[in-house]
Amino acid sequence: MTAPISPVAADSKIGSGRDNVVIFDTTMRDGEQSPGASMSLEEKLELAKILEEMGVDIIEAGFPIASNGDFQSVNEIAKIVKNSTIAGLCRAHQVDIDRCAEALKPTQRGRIHVVIATSDLHMKHKLQMEPDAVIDVIARSVTHARNLRDDVEWSAEDATRSDRQFLRRAIETAIKAGATTINLPDTVGYTYPSEYADLFDWMTKNVEGADKVIFSTHCHNDLGLAVANSLAGVQGGARQIECAINGLGERAGNAALEEVVMALKVRGDKLPFQTGIDTTHITRASRYVSAITGFPVQYNKAIVGKNAFAHESGIHQDGMLKNRETYEIMTPESVGQAPSSLVMGKHSGSHAFRAKLKDLGYELGQNALKEAFGRFKDLADRKKHVYDDDIIALVDDALARGSEKIRVSHLRVVAGTEGQSAELTLDVDGQAKSAEASGDGPVDAVFNAIHKIVPHSAALRLFQVHAVTEGTDAQAQVSVRLEEDGRIATGAAADTDTLTASAKAYVNALNNLFARKEKSAPAAIASGF
Ligand code: KIV
Ligand code: ZN
Repeated sequence: MTAPISPVAADSKIGSGRDNVVIFDTTMRDGEQSPGASMSLEEKLELAKILEEMGVDIIEAGFPIASNGDFQSVNEIAKIVKNSTIAGLCRAHQVDIDRCAEALKPTQRGRIHVVIATSDLHMKHKLQMEPDAVIDVIARSVTHARNLRDDVEWSAEDATRSDRQFLRRAIETAIKAGATTINLPDTVGYTYPSEYADLFDWMTKNVEGADKVIFSTHCHNDLGLAVANSLAGVQGGARQIECAINGLGERAGNAALEEVVMALKVRGDKLPFQTGIDTTHITRASRYVSAITGFPVQYNKAIVGKNAFAHESGIHQDGMLKNRETYEIMTPESVGQAPSSLVMGKHSGSHAFRAKLKDLGYELGQNALKEAFGRFKDLADRKKHVYDDDIIALVDDALARGSEKIRVSHLRVVAGTEGQSAELTLDVDGQAKSAEASGDGPVDAVFNAIHKIVPHSAALRLFQVHAVTEGTDAQAQVSVRLEEDGRIATGAAADTDTLTASAKAYVNALNNLFARKEKSAPAAIASGF
């Protein structure tokens, strides 16, 4: 099957060759829709830079009508990103589309992404619309979007549970109205690879005008099939894959970007398509997304898990020593993972530190570098061996902290059989505020002290501790998730002292929660299309 290429896309970098698969990243939109994965504007801007550098074709930066914060993210990202197309999501309403077009104004390369559901279930119960009325709305909304932008994607929400003939009619309507990309989402992660491949095969052969557009996959992972289904979609004729770093997304998540990209790269013999992704940026992107969302990457996660390239058993190690290909189908270097090595100690200078950061994929500005170097020196004083993973945790920690209004400045904890108490000083908007508290365990005492200084009604939903490296002097990486009035915010921090890391992570979550409150939108808009 040959790739359908849109005339609009054929002029741009996107889909410029028949053998290309367009990579559409939705970490900041669908990814952020997963409970607790909220990102600040600064974090999104940094992530957008990483995705652009990585060669992502399209960055879906948000859902502009959903909130002022989402509008601002799309708008600011549209100002700074030059080499990727920026997409904004909208429901099939004129006001959504206008708001999206407004947010995309700063970029030449903007895409309006319009979605409406096409399955009987969604049309009847969610939209409460007759199928003919849905067709009408598709025609009007896509025409309106196309009058504002040349690059318009139309998505048939719940496509995989839609009636095939009706879906064909809906797609033809969208194409006639000017859509340049047609996305057929497996919204609830229900489809099977053979079924999804057949859907694209059938649509690309039977839809009038199919040769004028690019078909796209968008797979959720409810049955753990998102990546397999995305690849099957390509086999069936799709030439765009929508995916997210670390598979972030609603419920069980979206297809993981790193997995689809590496599957295409490693098995080019099976699916002869290329992407524009520089895969050596993958690990950095994965770590950054994990740091800012507080969602840890599972150890055995494909491509980016801590154990993805670890060989423990004697037989495997023996094979590896003789020839790496015995047990490795790709090298760790190809995804930007360097073998963990002992790097530097307390005598290392700032030049060596800067060079190390560069090796690890970080380019920090002068101030950030100075701050990171100071933190590295502190760490080297406390910890015998400083590994790459320690430095990564340290820098990610500083990036995640950004410009916080509340900071931990002093903590003293008494723990043991006689009870636990904490003495804490926080810097709140430049003012030092102190409190003492006891608790049911030292972490509880610390959190109670925070509560005394910053009264709030947020409930603790998650408290997680991981060791960054091996050994009793390893840094602890702590993630905290808070919930208040249905709003969820996460925080993360790393320190050799678990209680200090806990305090910082909690304070980080509070900062994010307060920032989220400032920018938040009515929940009904944020959650429904
Ligand atoms: O899963 C889905 O259907 C979506 C659409 C908005 C593309 O995320
Ligand atoms: Zn989705």
